[in-house]
Amino acid sequence: MSWIREYTLNWFQLLALKIIRTGHVPKHVAFIMDGNRRYANKQNVAKIEGHVRGFDKLAETLSWCRDLGITEVTVYAFSIENYNRTKEEVDGLMELARRKFMRLLEEKDKLVEQGVCIRVIGNLSLLPEDMRKLFAEAMIITKNNNKATLNLAFAYTSRDEITHAIKDIAGGIKHTDILPEDITEDLISHCLYTYKSLNPDLLIRTSGEVRFSDFLLWQISNTCVYFTDVLWPEFSVWNLFSAIFYYQRCYSDLQKVAKVQNSKPIVHNDRVSMYINKLHHERQIMIENMYLSTVQS
Ligand code: FPP
Ligand code: MG
Repeated sequence: MSWIREYTLNWFQLLALKIIRTGHVPKHVAFIMDGNRRYANKQNVAKIEGHVRGFDKLAETLSWCRDLGITEVTVYAFSIENYNRTKEEVDGLMELARRKFMRLLEEKDKLVEQGVCIRVIGNLSLLPEDMRKLFAEAMIITKNNNKATLNLAFAYTSRDEITHAIKDIAGGIKHTDILPEDITEDLISHCLYTYKSLNPDLLIRTSGEVRFSDFLLWQISNTCVYFTDVLWPEFSVWNLFSAIFYYQRCYSDLQKVAKVQNSKPIVHNDRVSMYINKLHHERQIMIENMYLSTVQS
């Protein structure tokens, strides 16, 4: 199935969508898409089929988000912890991602037309080379698209992300690009894999599990969190609407917190600004090198 599909809502769903759009719609929504295997079990199909249906649900959810005016979505597609699953399941998930990214590259024109930018966030060094190349290619060819962003967390955990940020900062100090007193929360945020994004406004986790599973721990300190019992492949547009209604009820409290936090403007000294630019440039070059090796091979 394609990443970009048109799903038509019925008149009642469209009415609910219009009502929701009169209120504050979150700009950035993150999803922990949990419950694929329980769904497979319930349907008496193979585990991997649960993940395939999970992907189809992602494509459908992206179209609902677009209709709602949500401009950024971040999804937990593969945790580093998932490497502890059976080889058969890990291989199955990798193969699914491979197939879907090949499809995505074939649909390049559709992505450009809809202005969708794809970013893979995670520890790419933990992935097979061919997947790194596919991910790099998808990121490069969509990098100038600016209507919507999909961040796909793959080979990701928050602790790994924060560990890498600390290593980058330690390297910056070692090479005297920055000084220990330059370390601030803002500098750390700029060193995370998510440095190009604002923090999510809303996090949705399906399947009744009430925990974060090492997902965006740094980024969700003031995010509205919505847990629902529905298994991810059964997630419906009504479940999404309920989550947005919940967000809208929390909105005024969230605004108060944001006001306090944004009251102090962040000013970087030149040293820190130069270091951040250098780091981001190096990361971009790394992705471009992965992509160039695809073109040359
Ligand atoms: C959690 O359900 C889901 C995953 C570990 C994988 C999520 C992946 C997808 C939805 C497919 C996305 C693919 C691409 C290429 C973007 P679970 O396996 O933990 O199920 P359970 O909680 O019922 O055991
Ligand atoms: Mg699970």
